[in-house]
Amino acid sequence: MDCAPLFRVIYVSRNRMPDGAASRPAEIEGILSTARAANARAGITGALLFNRAGFAQVLEGPLPAVGATFERILRDPRHGDVVVLESVPVTERAFPSWSMAFVGEAAGTKAAIDRDPAEAARVLALLRDLVATTAEAMC
Ligand SMILES: Cc1cc2nc3c(=O)[nH]c(=O)nc-3n(C[C@H](O)[C@H](O)[C@H](O)COP(=O)(O)O)c2cc1C
Repeated sequence: MDCAPLFRVIYVSRNRMPDGAASRPAEIEGILSTARAANARAGITGALLFNRAGFAQVLEGPLPAVGATFERILRDPRHGDVVVLESVPVTERAFPSWSMAFVGEAAGTKAAIDRDPAEAARVLALLRDLVATTAEAMC
């Protein structure tokens, strides 16, 4: 990692994928493999939570990379109704060793994700906790 100033975006969104039970794991795997490869190239780390209702994601890295990645994510039809909880410069990464940690449905359903920017710190703490205890291996 270089020493470029770091930036962090935290957002929540609603799932827009078809509700077929079989289609979701494959879609999520596709999202994760694309995300991890692109993020590793761009110096982005973070965490993604998925449950029946939708997603919560933390993206952190150099500002231009975070901006370009988030623009692509915003255009993705697999989710929508995106609410940015936080968009701030930071001094250190919350997920330094994860190109994109993933917390899936089993752990994620236990987590009530607020769509309120006042809850950004709580959502970050929740994701850190879930990643520390349940996240799928990266790379
Ligand atoms: C919930 C969600 C999270 C995503 N997270 C990332 C991510 O962290 N990094 C990334 O490069 N793409 C991520 N993607 C995929 C992008 O939306 C996009 O499909 C991918 O970057 C390829 O973009 P392109 O087809 O414009 O090249 C995510 C998609 C969704 C639905």
